[in-house]
Amino acid sequence: MKISSSVAAFLAVGVAVANNINTTEPEPQCHPGPGSFDQPIFNSTNIASLVACTKLNYICDTPTGRDFYEFNPTTPVPANYNCTPNFYSIYIQPDVNSSLSIPVADTIAGVYFYGNERYNVPLNLTGLDFPELVNVSEFELTWADKVGTFDVPKLERVEGYMNLNLSGANPPAINLSFPSLGYARYLSLMGNIDAIELPLLQNATGINVMSTGNLDCTVWAAEVVSKTLPLRPYPTNTNDSVICNSRKGSVTTYRAAPTSGSRRLVAKMDVMGLVGFVWLLVL
Ligand SMILES: *[C@@H]1O[C@H](CO)[C@@H](O)[C@H](O)[C@H]1NC(C)=O
Ligand SMILES: *[C@@H]1O[C@H](CO)[C@@H](O)[C@H](O)[C@H]1NC(C)=O
Ligand SMILES: *[C@@H]1O[C@H](CO)[C@@H](O)[C@H](O)[C@H]1NC(C)=O
Ligand SMILES: *[C@@H]1O[C@H](CO)[C@@H](O)[C@H](O)[C@H]1NC(C)=O
Ligand SMILES: *[C@@H]1O[C@H](CO)[C@@H](O)[C@H](O)[C@H]1NC(C)=O
Ligand SMILES: *[C@@H]1O[C@H](CO)[C@@H](O)[C@H](O)[C@H]1NC(C)=O
Ligand SMILES: *[C@@H]1O[C@H](CO)[C@@H](O)[C@H](O)[C@H]1NC(C)=O
Ligand SMILES: *[C@@H]1O[C@H](CO)[C@@H](O)[C@H](O)[C@H]1NC(C)=O
Ligand SMILES: *[C@@H]1O[C@H](CO)[C@@H](O)[C@H](O)[C@H]1NC(C)=O
Repeated sequence: MKISSSVAAFLAVGVAVANNINTTEPEPQCHPGPGSFDQPIFNSTNIASLVACTKLNYICDTPTGRDFYEFNPTTPVPANYNCTPNFYSIYIQPDVNSSLSIPVADTIAGVYFYGNERYNVPLNLTGLDFPELVNVSEFELTWADKVGTFDVPKLERVEGYMNLNLSGANPPAINLSFPSLGYARYLSLMGNIDAIELPLLQNATGINVMSTGNLDCTVWAAEVVSKTLPLRPYPTNTNDSVICNSRKGSVTTYRAAPTSGSRRLVAKMDVMGLVGFVWLLVL
């Protein structure tokens, strides 16, 4: 690893920890080498070193080669560097048998934590916490039937799917809370779920919950349906943007189009008002 003095000076301006990965001499922690999987795979002992990789959020063609950098976004990139944003997707080593707290960068491409569906082997992970994660394209935690705690306190946006499958042989009861989540295109939540909190969610195209727990689907669906779009556009427009199944019942519902409905009502009243006005004049 070599940092030229001008780059070091630049990085020193706004970045406390400056990282520079020389890809022709692969940094083993982030880029395990030719032919190997090039994205972080977390386990219980490598979190600190791989978290640093997720913060290398720019890839730049510098005068001396192509490198990954962590840049403070408020600091201008040198003009002679051709930098584009670089976001990692993260994975989990399937044999992890503890709870993990992983302070990845605020923005990453995807979370892909899954057990082996093909060989019918669920993850042994018992809990998961992403204390710093804010924006992600896709989030998958599936075949993970031992997960009893789940925390994403800062997660604001999931551009695509948020898919949690915590169901399986004898899953622990869990309460799911997404205190900051404003948008997820589609949420699929499965497990021994007793409660789901989505206080800030808006515009979801659909939410599908399969709980073997005590979630009260009737109460919950009635509350969450206002956070979805009126029609679920995929694969075709259907009136089932919220589907909830649990020990306490099954509900399929959708948001009645409130804005166009009330607009129509207002329009009708306007017409009546106009007619009344005209009629009054004629008299
Ligand atoms: C990257 O490593 C190679 C091999 O050690 C070296 O020749 C090259 O100068 C390095 N490039 C940078 C930008 O440090
Ligand atoms: C965790 O992964 C690192 C590579 O990132 C490896 O060297 C280490 O042995 C792994 N630890 C365990 C407990 O599997
Ligand atoms: C989970 O733990 C069990 C028991 O130790 C083991 O047989 C299984 O292979 C582990 N699962 C994975 C995905 O490593
Ligand atoms: C969990 O995995 C570690 C190695 O990563 C192993 O030493 C330990 O025995 C495992 N614990 C259980 C309960 O399977
Ligand atoms: C997350 O995404 C939103 C919408 O694209 C953006 O406004 C916000 O700045 C992003 N937050 C971070 C920490 O990147
Ligand atoms: C969810 O995971 C369990 C194993 O943990 C599996 O049996 C089940 O088929 C999965 N469901 C879906 C819809 O993938
Ligand atoms: C879920 O929250 C309820 C209160 O809302 C509580 O009674 C219950 O014990 C919680 N369950 C779990 C698994 O934390
Ligand atoms: C939901 O959609 C409305 C209307 O398009 C938009 O103003 C709002 O920002 C969206 N909310 C989120 C969290 O994306
Ligand atoms: C959805 O429900 C609305 C009434 O709220 C109805 O007009 C529409 O035809 C329904 N659409 C489908 C695809 O069933």
